[in-house]
Amino acid sequence: MLSVVVLISGSGSNLLALLKAAENPLFPAKIVAVGSDKDAPGLVHAELYEVDTFVVEPSRFGSKEQWAATLLASVQHHQPDLVVLAGFMRILPANFVAALKGKLINTHPSLLPDFKGAHAVRDALAAGATKTGVTIHYVDEGVDTGEIIVQSEVEILPQETEHALHERIKTIERALLVKTIEQFALKQKDLAKA
Ligand code: GAR
Repeated sequence: MLSVVVLISGSGSNLLALLKAAENPLFPAKIVAVGSDKDAPGLVHAELYEVDTFVVEPSRFGSKEQWAATLLASVQHHQPDLVVLAGFMRILPANFVAALKGKLINTHPSLLPDFKGAHAVRDALAAGATKTGVTIHYVDEGVDTGEIIVQSEVEILPQETEHALHERIKTIERALLVKTIEQFALKQKDLAKA
């Protein structure tokens, strides 16, 4: 069973999709904890599923590195095989990223390398793009620059608002994230057998 810690900052609809998928006893991954950088609305999903939660707010620390070290300790406490950034809206410094190398993935609402950063959907619309999508990738020291695991394309409809487009992207994103984590877990199982 793949142990997963999910980090969120927002509504947590991707987290909820993972929690729902993991309810199936045949799903090969378990969400062992959910963390956030603030009292995010999405933490309620973890509480309903009786999954441990933790909040580590940057404002309580003197530096970004100190904040990340405490966040890392909270993550490591749960001994995860995989850490998933699902709408976690803070850039993680090198000390955090290096400690979780190969185990840290992010989901992002664009076809990377296009439209990196916190406003990917808005930026795609502003650029007049006709398609965008979702990318699940490993996290490295850069912003949305890590190795791409999988992508899925979404057509942009004429006159579409940022909210409507993001909601359509998230529908695709949730399914892709669940499938990607399932594949990680199956790969880990195969490696354990070999
Ligand atoms: C998702 O679309 C995720 O890709 C995005 O935030 C949304 C969170 O939705 N992340 C980023 O933009 C990171 N740069 P959710 O809280 O409903 O899961």
